[in-house]
Amino acid sequence: MVDHINDEEGPSFVIGNIARGIDMWDRDAEIDEIWKTLKNDNVLLKACRRFGKSSIMLKMKENPRHDFICFMFDAESTKSPEDFVVTLLDKLRAENELNGDANLKKLLKKAIRIIKKSFNAIDQVGISEFSLKFRDAISSDWRKVAVELIDYLSGFNRKILFIIDELPQLILNMKQHHDNNVACEFLNWFREVRQSHNLSNIRWLFGGSIGIEHAIKKVGAQNTVINDLSIIVLKPYSDKIGREFIAALLKQEGKFREISSGIIEKIMNTVGSPVPYFLQILIKESLDTMNAAGEATLTNEIIEDAYHESVLGVAKRAYFEHFYDRLSDYYDNNEVEIVKQIIVETARKEGGISKADLSDLYKTIVGDKIPGTRINDIMADLQNEFYIVYDHTIGTYRFLTNVLRDWWLRYHSD
Ligand SMILES: Nc1ncnc2c1ncn2[C@@H]1O[C@H](COP(=O)(O)OP(=O)(O)O)[C@@H](O)[C@H]1O
Ligand SMILES: [Mg+2]
Repeated sequence: MVDHINDEEGPSFVIGNIARGIDMWDRDAEIDEIWKTLKNDNVLLKACRRFGKSSIMLKMKENPRHDFICFMFDAESTKSPEDFVVTLLDKLRAENELNGDANLKKLLKKAIRIIKKSFNAIDQVGISEFSLKFRDAISSDWRKVAVELIDYLSGFNRKILFIIDELPQLILNMKQHHDNNVACEFLNWFREVRQSHNLSNIRWLFGGSIGIEHAIKKVGAQNTVINDLSIIVLKPYSDKIGREFIAALLKQEGKFREISSGIIEKIMNTVGSPVPYFLQILIKESLDTMNAAGEATLTNEIIEDAYHESVLGVAKRAYFEHFYDRLSDYYDNNEVEIVKQIIVETARKEGGISKADLSDLYKTIVGDKIPGTRINDIMADLQNEFYIVYDHTIGTYRFLTNVLRDWWLRYHSD
């Protein structure tokens, strides 16, 4: 029996959206580490999709420390440098209207007035049209606006944290909607801004599910454009926290008074590694299966059934299909087929596939068409986004969660 759950209200299911408030479980140590690092450095928070990056970032924004004032935006739909600058300004303005600091309010008002003035075209527009017109007006001169804006912020008497989610996607968007040059120029300029000595009161926290190295390589930039960032890798929950989360979710959502440790172990073992998203899905489907069968308690058989019939079932393919769809964003048509074969072979070997076997497999598939070193980039991508991990002690790659492994084998191994 678990004895650590109390009578307070616990977390409810959140499957896909950002987990917030009481639904956001733990990550305290990670948040402490990020704040600590931000004292002196800018941070890139790295992890596969659905590990909980955005949830952490939002919690930090809503609970700032060390006298920081935080602004957060998701750069996923930002397509150009000017878009980026406008969004930044717009966020500042909007956030400030909601709960602004009097000093910052004054500073921003002045900054916006001056920036507007230098762009006659937007001198007269109202707030609602501001972003739209502003974006057009600065398209050729975004650097000037950004420098003016940031200059003003450096005069602010508190520390500012910009939290920017999905930075790698922003880089890929610039490539797609403009060209490599635009993306590279932006990356170089942005690094300079972050390094600038007069901006010592400003910090940046970036997140992204796509490997940033992949995005940088794709636009032809050098890795030096991010070598000032301190990288923090988000891991799954520890086993202890994973078990506590399972107990708390079952208590809240299943309304159980007691939860056997056997059931918690069964859930842990079925998922493989305690990534919160997969725990949520298996628990939800198990409770639904239990209710549908008219049962009042969970058993190993119900969990097993829910796993095979529901979690991995056709009706729920949407839970994981994006892991498959994303491959075509990463690779061109030729390579995507090769990468799928590599993933499936990794899934087929229960204990994982050795680096040497993988290399041989790759050579067999591609022959001399692509340099052999390309496999290293591919494996880096797969670790960054596709839940494959490398165990350096035995030199093998394997799936981090049983869920995705079984899912690949079921739907994509023919
Ligand atoms: N701290 C958490 N507590 C509870 N659930 C979480 C937590 N972090 C992530 N999740 C689960 O994972 C899903 C994705 O979380 P999110 O923060 O959007 O991840 P990411 O930004 O890494 O893709 C959530 O919908 C939820 O199911
Ligand atoms: Mg996210």
